[in-house]
Amino acid sequence: MWLPCGCTSKYVASSFARRTLASYLHVSGRSRCNVAAFMPEAAGLEGVSGRAALRELSVSNSESFWAAVARHRLCWSTPFHTVQDCDLSRGKIKWFEGGKLNVSVNCLDRHVHTCPERVALIWERDERGSEMKYTYGELLEMTCRLGNLLRRHSVKRGDCVTIYMPTCPLAVASMLACARIGAAHNVVFAGFSADALAERIRDAQSSTVITVNQGVRGGKVTELKKTVDTAVQSCPTVKQVFVAMRTDNPVTMTARDIAMEEEMLKEDVVCEPAVMNSEDVLFLLYTSGSTGKPKGLVHTQAGYLLYAALTHRYVFSYHDGDVFGCVADIGWITGHSYVVYGPLANGATTVLFESTPIYPDPGRYWDMVERLKINQFYGAPTAIRLLLKYGDQWVNKYDRSTLKTLGSVGEPINTEAWEWYHRVVGDGRCPVVDTWWQTETGGICIAPRPSDPDAEIVPGMAMRPFFGINPVLMDTEGEVLTSNNTSGALCMAQPWPGMARTIHNNHQRFIDTYFQPYPGYFFTGDGAYRSEEGYYQITGRLDDVINVSGHRIGTAEIEDVVNQCPAVAESAVVGYTHSIKGQGVYAFVVLKKGIDVQEADLSRQLNGMVSEKIAKYASPDFIQFAKRLPKTRSGKIMRRVLRKVVESDLEGLGDLSTLDDPAAVQEIIQGHEKLL
Ligand code: WTA
Repeated sequence: MWLPCGCTSKYVASSFARRTLASYLHVSGRSRCNVAAFMPEAAGLEGVSGRAALRELSVSNSESFWAAVARHRLCWSTPFHTVQDCDLSRGKIKWFEGGKLNVSVNCLDRHVHTCPERVALIWERDERGSEMKYTYGELLEMTCRLGNLLRRHSVKRGDCVTIYMPTCPLAVASMLACARIGAAHNVVFAGFSADALAERIRDAQSSTVITVNQGVRGGKVTELKKTVDTAVQSCPTVKQVFVAMRTDNPVTMTARDIAMEEEMLKEDVVCEPAVMNSEDVLFLLYTSGSTGKPKGLVHTQAGYLLYAALTHRYVFSYHDGDVFGCVADIGWITGHSYVVYGPLANGATTVLFESTPIYPDPGRYWDMVERLKINQFYGAPTAIRLLLKYGDQWVNKYDRSTLKTLGSVGEPINTEAWEWYHRVVGDGRCPVVDTWWQTETGGICIAPRPSDPDAEIVPGMAMRPFFGINPVLMDTEGEVLTSNNTSGALCMAQPWPGMARTIHNNHQRFIDTYFQPYPGYFFTGDGAYRSEEGYYQITGRLDDVINVSGHRIGTAEIEDVVNQCPAVAESAVVGYTHSIKGQGVYAFVVLKKGIDVQEADLSRQLNGMVSEKIAKYASPDFIQFAKRLPKTRSGKIMRRVLRKVVESDLEGLGDLSTLDDPAAVQEIIQGHEKLL
């Protein structure tokens, strides 16, 4: 029996925790081994000497590796009997079958037992200097009250609750309360419009939504409850909406609405956790693909949590007592894995960042680092590029000596931004980890791994696969490229516990998207370069997905909205290089015959439609009206050509012989030049 340390608390004495520990801390004993000092989870793996050998074994004998780490890092109420049962050719992925556990117990109760007064969350509220701290004990209490409240309102195991909230403690408690009672959650980014929210609620078939009266970000108030009111009008499944109060401003409450904090106070602080199977659903998270309809990726309990926890520990060199500052919104996978689940599973103090990098001024992040004494800072290249432009003085004003690791995620980080992050923010002493991963992968797959102090890091490269990850590059014929200094489609040759299990209600789409392009492999949708030394660099998407400020968006989603405008005959949307956002949105629009409108008015209308139907960040930066689009003889829009035009790479237009009418390209080029 493994008990991390022996402190007791009011929670252990009075609540569920006592029972929990008896039934949940089912962890095998530790044996000594020479990698144990580095990775105690691997102590059971006899005969492995050194980190390189451990990494090799994690791929060559992945079952032993994952069995050892799963036993060590998670608390099980019933041990698993089968480490993995996967068949990538059929998109079948199962880990730790037979095992039973509760994710909220793993994230809360076990830490409450050992260190109830440890701070779990620091809520860096939008209003600078008004941060609030919540201990593990307090977060458990909030979670239990909410779990009981949801249960009292008939939310059952297997239901899916949609959460539309800004990054705040009650949002985290809502996620964990779902996990506690065995319901799945579906967090929808609070910047999404009512239409986008409604589409996700309908697809997830949620009968319960959790929201706040208003959001506050960058000093601006957003009407989240009103957005929910609009959304649920087209969601017949929704029976109840829990409304928490982020501001003091009252909102209209209908018969469907429940005042969340008020009702929580009436609930017991003890909430019996549901005993979940490893492969029960933990959450859905919608993300863009290359077609118009977002896909609800499904992650399950044990494998996801284990992978989030292990990567959090080793990619960032997180150590007990560190303050972990990931500034992602909880509405994205980065928020799920590295604001909530990874850090909490490891008993970390995790920061909830509600604001923006430049509010009230461009020193916000570094002021926060000084005030909260952040040890690991994890952010997006788009913000780094923006802050770089404001100058070093905003960084140098603040004490950043607590920082140990700097992380980057979501899009390629260019060398200039990498160097600045390293040299100015990290004073040249903190390793920068450029982490590559996706909603689909659950956690970081390729990263420099600073836990190996000797590891070389090349600026702008994601570098090395994590434990258990086996990346391969494919050529255009679908053959594995075995040499180095080569580029290809990035695939994974082996399953790992953190990968998504399916697309909600559409397993066929899951297979078609990820496993059919290269049978037997998981296809990421990204291209990558492997250097002479074997290091990986991500070169960008190979499909029609673009990345705007680290937000993934399918160009087809934007086209669908633009095409709904009665004046529009057809459209094509492509990404172009943007100095801050990474990529911007460029739309080509062909109007119906006989339409006579002011282009500027129509542009405004189309921008408004995209903001309203999707989100502001998806709104086109440029709209070019064209008489026609370049098409192949079979009628397919040649996006390759459009992409080259918007990048002003006319040399690279390539073979135009399949075009129906090459004159269309000339028109497009002229129109583009006029627009700039
Ligand atoms: C891109 C975000 C280059 C990539 C965690 C991927 C990156 C998509 C990096 C996933 C990186 C993510 N370097 N590109 N370090 N990290 N990407 O699902 O194209 O929102 O496929 O997950 O972002 O975006 P998602």
